[in-house]
Amino acid sequence: MALSQAVLFSLFVSVLLPPFCISIRSVPRKEFNGDSGFPFIEAPEYRNGVGCSVSSSKHFVSSCDPSLVHIAMTLDSEYLRGSIAAVHSVLKHSSCPENVFFHFITAEFDPANPRILSQLVRSTFPSLNFKVYIFREDTVINLISSSVRQALENPLNYARNYLGNILDQCVDRVIYLDSDLVVVDDIHKLWSTKLAGSRVIGAPEYCHANFTKYFSDQFWANPVLSRVFATRNPCYFNTGVMVMDLVKWREGNYQRRIENWMEVQRKRRIYELGSLPPFLLVFAGNVEPIDHRWNQHGLGGDNLRGDCRSLHPGPVSLLHWSGKGKPWARLDSGKPCPLDRSWEPYDLYKGFDNDRMKDKSDGVLRPSQEGYSSYL
Ligand SMILES: *[C@@H]1O[C@H](CO)[C@@H](O)[C@H](O)[C@H]1NC(C)=O
Repeated sequence: MALSQAVLFSLFVSVLLPPFCISIRSVPRKEFNGDSGFPFIEAPEYRNGVGCSVSSSKHFVSSCDPSLVHIAMTLDSEYLRGSIAAVHSVLKHSSCPENVFFHFITAEFDPANPRILSQLVRSTFPSLNFKVYIFREDTVINLISSSVRQALENPLNYARNYLGNILDQCVDRVIYLDSDLVVVDDIHKLWSTKLAGSRVIGAPEYCHANFTKYFSDQFWANPVLSRVFATRNPCYFNTGVMVMDLVKWREGNYQRRIENWMEVQRKRRIYELGSLPPFLLVFAGNVEPIDHRWNQHGLGGDNLRGDCRSLHPGPVSLLHWSGKGKPWARLDSGKPCPLDRSWEPYDLYKGFDNDRMKDKSDGVLRPSQEGYSSYL
């Protein structure tokens, strides 16, 4: 597919930008209370351990460097604090943090414009390898139907569908991560996931979940539509954590396949959620199953109430506050859920409590033989 007819985007490398000189409109001025003028404190510098492959250039890492682990995330003013915590968590637990390259997708019309977001990431993580891309919202705006929760209608939620076009063509694999999660294990382990045969994406699958409920009665009653699952054994998976083979993705035109289902949805209302169901329609039953430890999802409660949830049994490599409740909001409100305390050590926001970073022992997930299953 020609780039011009697909998602249009522009990109720039943030290291080339001039120093910070403007504040972010979406955050009240009184909360810019530190030396740098940024709402986040600078993260500790995380260095490669022994045995990490060294990239070709120490000072300018190209995203085409084969030694890199690629991570794509969205970056917007609303979930910014979550994204920053997620990046921090990846670096903190990575065996080779300098080999991780972040691809941040920003919205063209975000109140904090992409340039400011880029400067903010640079000030928080001075030696991070990253690029910021601008996602043209008009690419998807006409494809989005209303859903059960308004946040699910944010065009950036659909950016994961366009990574094959947005990222440099030399990037042949990427880990997509949502902004409401923290990684508490070495991301290189997830990166090394093999996608067998023709499988294009990998994700933890949940075959005991009732798959029927993700689609409307109208969908199941229509044999032309529902036969999409006739030759598969579809299982639910969460699109907040995915390993994606971008070579197979581009070759198979998966972006278009997902868009086709979004067009069906606009005419016939075949599901209630936002960006997830079209992924299920295209991939469910053909997903490389990844260990459940890599997406302990649902910690934000359901889509309406945001109630407290506990972990699923088994080890934990990634905690994901999918659902309505977000840990930063619940912590700020003074009514956190117990597991929100394990998000807190990764928070770099300095708007509320500058001493918080000094004692990070509360609620930290500590490594055990199993990984990070013991919760203190
Ligand atoms: C699955 O969900 C559908 C729709 O909500 C319901 O009709 C069906 O009984 C459920 N199946 C099971 C096994 O719970």
